[in-house]
Amino acid sequence: MVRDVSTPIPRDVVAVADYAAHARQCLGEQAWAYFAGGAGDEHTLRDNEAAFARLRLDPRVLTGFDGAHTRVELFGEVLAHPILLAPVALQKLAHADGELASVRGAGALGAAMVVSTESSVAIETLAAAATTPLWFQLYLQADRGFTRALVERAEAAGCRALVLTVDAPINGVRDRERRAGLQLPSGVEPVHLRGCAPATASEALFGSALLAGAPTWADVDALRTWTRLPIVLKGILGADDARRALKHGADGLVVSNHGGRTLDGLPATIDALTDVAAAVDGRVPILLDGGIRRGTDVLKAIALGARAVMVGRPYVHGLAVAGAAGVAHVVQMLRSELEAAMVLCGRRTLAEVERTLIRAPAPR
Ligand code: FNR
Ligand code: LAC
Repeated sequence: MVRDVSTPIPRDVVAVADYAAHARQCLGEQAWAYFAGGAGDEHTLRDNEAAFARLRLDPRVLTGFDGAHTRVELFGEVLAHPILLAPVALQKLAHADGELASVRGAGALGAAMVVSTESSVAIETLAAAATTPLWFQLYLQADRGFTRALVERAEAAGCRALVLTVDAPINGVRDRERRAGLQLPSGVEPVHLRGCAPATASEALFGSALLAGAPTWADVDALRTWTRLPIVLKGILGADDARRALKHGADGLVVSNHGGRTLDGLPATIDALTDVAAAVDGRVPILLDGGIRRGTDVLKAIALGARAVMVGRPYVHGLAVAGAAGVAHVVQMLRSELEAAMVLCGRRTLAEVERTLIRAPAPR
């Protein structure tokens, strides 16, 4: 079961992926299935990591490192580095303090955090503990009035951006979760959704209240009138949707396949990035998530057009094993690997990290 006292960081954890085996031992079978699993046969889940591993880097030597840094600007704020915590629901399944521990870990390493609509700790509690920017991830509820009040709540709590998730009008086919018979233990619930009647699809999906309430582009326009915060659409994988998002006033995009949890068969995010970046052509910042496990993955994403990246499972593994310290440790490992990779590639700043860093595949 979930540990309620943070354990020290295990000595054999030297890279982000090392946390997974420890996390698996801390989490019960059900929570592990929830956090680690993906949709269907998990091809997309695996490909997110494999696609990063396929890319090779082209270094420059003897460049000098005067004034080198990893700073990045997003929506008017300068962050110390480009690694954000992705929205992950129900973190009390991983640790008794849930998202509160994650916020503390993020603060220790200067990472911005995106808080899920389905957080198990309230945004006001998190905001009170936050020392780094919080963004709020929004799932539009069938009850738009409730949703609007939630947006106002996030804005009042001091969130700096809204991340509207557009790739999950329904849950994916989560076979791993179903095999594990996932059920939420008492005391773990999506607290922001108290009092909101869930729309369900009892038998048929088509014609159900769930689909009737599914968000559309018109909701993006409506959201614009509800808030002054930057609106970031999370779950864009192609050029057409990217262009459409810009037409509807999106202030940023996240290239994401929901960590392989929605539709199995979607492309790896790093493979989808180039087309989206070409369509956006620098007009708004692009973030990427899915499969980031190394500093070199961060570097590759930035080289192919992302301004910043988000990580999901890695920090939840750190959270499960060592609470806030584990979350901070995960960000710290990614950050120092990123710095080492920049040095070894001869790039002083992220502005110098561009396409030429990715080695073209050898002609066949
Ligand atoms: C998620 N993700 C997610 N996304 C979102 O917009 N709202 C949410 O509430 C959640 N919840 C959630 C729970 C769990 C257990 C996971 C693993 C993921 C998706 C998340 O924001 C992100 O897109 C992926 O996790 C990125 O992939 P990696 O870093 O986990 O490979
Ligand atoms: C998930 C939902 C909450 O991926 O986004 O579990």
